[in-house]
Amino acid sequence: MNDLSQLQIQAEAELADANDDAALEAWRIKYLSRKGLVSQAVGRIGSLPPEERAAYGQAVNAMKQTVQAAFEARSQELIDASLAAELTAEGIDVTLPGRRPQVGRLHPISRTLRNIYDIFGQMGFQIYTARDVETDLVNFQLLNFPKGHPAREMQDTFHTTVEDVLLRTHTSPGQIRAMREYYPEPIRVILPGKCYRYEQVTARSEMMFYQVEGLAVGRNITFADLKGTLVAFANQMFGQGRKLRFRCSHFPFTEPSAEVDIDCIICGGSGCRVCKYTGWLEILGCGMVHPNVLRNGGYDPEIYSGYAFGMGPERIAILIHGIDDIRYFYSNDVRLLTQFA
Ligand code: PHE
Repeated sequence: MNDLSQLQIQAEAELADANDDAALEAWRIKYLSRKGLVSQAVGRIGSLPPEERAAYGQAVNAMKQTVQAAFEARSQELIDASLAAELTAEGIDVTLPGRRPQVGRLHPISRTLRNIYDIFGQMGFQIYTARDVETDLVNFQLLNFPKGHPAREMQDTFHTTVEDVLLRTHTSPGQIRAMREYYPEPIRVILPGKCYRYEQVTARSEMMFYQVEGLAVGRNITFADLKGTLVAFANQMFGQGRKLRFRCSHFPFTEPSAEVDIDCIICGGSGCRVCKYTGWLEILGCGMVHPNVLRNGGYDPEIYSGYAFGMGPERIAILIHGIDDIRYFYSNDVRLLTQFA
């Protein structure tokens, strides 16, 4: 009988020290399993003289029940404690307001494009969209870049698995598409769209970017018309009073050709980091449509003339907003958009 109360005291003390599931299970095996100490005590009934059995049996059963009840109580205690710990750790505060969903905004390139459309729209230009997937013929050959022409090297190309089918490297092939569709009408269109070049992506160049091409074809179009149109555009896009500088340049599909600079919109021409201390920012390429290109579009260069220009909306957005890395535009980070309210 003494041993029984000893066993109970010991079992209860060890149970109080079992602080996790593993300790609790070890305790259960030690005391309550089929070969545990409590079962052993119960089993001892059979070895007792018959007159002692009844009293011992009662006592051992009472002890077993007490210990079992203590085990169940301790198990519940541990479950409650771990639940309470979880609740304080996760700290759900149901009174907190919910998180606001992030709202997108118009992308700076979309805004720049719409601005360009508005300005040229007011001058009577229509939007003509040509295809992104072009042929070597239209993207290059009809624009005076024969196969193997060194000027192709400036436009590293994404080719497709289909021979002579590629992703357009500029919007200029749209000139051919528009001329072939409009002939013999006069033309005044802008051709916006994505272009693709197989280039290392850096802060200054992406492999996918936009261009907006302009094309005018008619009977008496001169370089003066080109200059007037671009001066009017620059004044609306970059602010009144802009100075423009036409620098001689070369493109296979225009003759003569020029690159156009505006006086730096940051420093006004006195020299700064953005204009690399030149006072000028290059904004586009342009020229009079080459006679071969007019002919390839179906227009007789003896009768018709035309001008064309091409600009990069990313570059324009970069200049206007002082953005220092072109990769921001296509990294899909909504934080960029929220900066352009
Ligand atoms: N297509 C030329 C380029 O991608 C730009 C350009 C367009 C130049 C039209 C002249 C006329 O660099």
